[in-house]
Amino acid sequence: MTTVSDVDARELLAGRLVDGLTQALELFGVYLGVELGLYRALAEFGAVTEAELAGHAGVAPRYAREWLEQQAVAGYLACDDPAEPAERRRFRLPAGHAEVLVDRDSPYHVAPLALALAGTAGVLARLPEAYRGGGGVAYADYGRAIRDGIAAANRPMFLHELAGVWLPAVPDLHRRLRSAPAPRLLDLGCGLGASSLALARAYPRATVLGVDLDEASVAGARAAAAEAGVADRVSFAVGDAAHLAPEAPFDLVTVFEALHDMGDPVGALRAARALLADGGSVLVADERVADAFTAPGDATERLMYGWSILHCLPATLAEDHVEANGTVLRAPTLARWAAAAGFAEVEVLAVDNPFWRFYRLR
Ligand SMILES: C[S@@+](CC[C@H](N)C(=O)[O-])C[C@H]1O[C@@H](n2cnc3c(N)ncnc32)[C@H](O)[C@@H]1O
Repeated sequence: MTTVSDVDARELLAGRLVDGLTQALELFGVYLGVELGLYRALAEFGAVTEAELAGHAGVAPRYAREWLEQQAVAGYLACDDPAEPAERRRFRLPAGHAEVLVDRDSPYHVAPLALALAGTAGVLARLPEAYRGGGGVAYADYGRAIRDGIAAANRPMFLHELAGVWLPAVPDLHRRLRSAPAPRLLDLGCGLGASSLALARAYPRATVLGVDLDEASVAGARAAAAEAGVADRVSFAVGDAAHLAPEAPFDLVTVFEALHDMGDPVGALRAARALLADGGSVLVADERVADAFTAPGDATERLMYGWSILHCLPATLAEDHVEANGTVLRAPTLARWAAAAGFAEVEVLAVDNPFWRFYRLR
């Protein structure tokens, strides 16, 4: 028998799915705006007509019209004169929106997450087969969109918080890295290297080695170091963090939003511990999720499980893995891994960050 509350639940869920569909479609519209440089052109040229945008960004005018109208209807762009004939309407970025959509240094620059979403869409058709057989989809197969999307979304945090907030939250470590004549740092799962570069900027006498399993990420990181003029002390290597053999010791090993992706997280932590200098530390930043599973979950849990089912879990299962955690790395799991890797202490750092929790392992 269908009860009143069943009917309410049916209405609620149907409404949620339709709202979610609209938001998903709009995020793919953001992907087009980022990928095609449409937002960049709007930021550069101000209020534009469809023909002007088409000319500035190199897209076909008919597509420019539809995208501009969709963006204005969604409220991402403003239309100055909606009653004018289509070809005469002018569209612009409202105040504040440029930061979110085009300002790559802004802490509010979340548009790259639409790129990461598009990266998952690129492999979506392969996931049912992976789910049935238990196989994975390699990180590299998600392509440039996921690589660039994650890197661009995380970069402002490294730029603004790593040197000024995160490392000063560990005063003795910060002092050591500032005062040592030539501190050595190892950045595991470095992606496109924004964290490695931020570490090098924070500690001008340091050398930094970034390691990542993904070849294209390492190539991008090397190019970024060369562009930043620090390639003499920031280098990168392709490798599995669990099987590292660089020259030890290191004063600090960092793992930013990558431990949950690794196929052998205990092996990676064990390798990191073996490479530490006397008194050295491992700093892990990973998702700020709850300590235990509850359902339904809050917004963070929903977001992280969303990435997990579409990207992190399949990518880890494609590694030569011992364990496949998925995105949701809970503090007790991390403590268990750290103990298994031989660490005596896991300290949760007092860093106020909405996305990540910070751990110091010694
Ligand atoms: C979510 S991304 C984070 C990248 C970077 N730390 C950042 O914050 O932008 C996770 C990274 O971990 C890397 N990774 C996954 N498994 C790895 C492993 N076993 N060893 C080294 N890197 C790995 C991936 O290639 C990817 O670049």
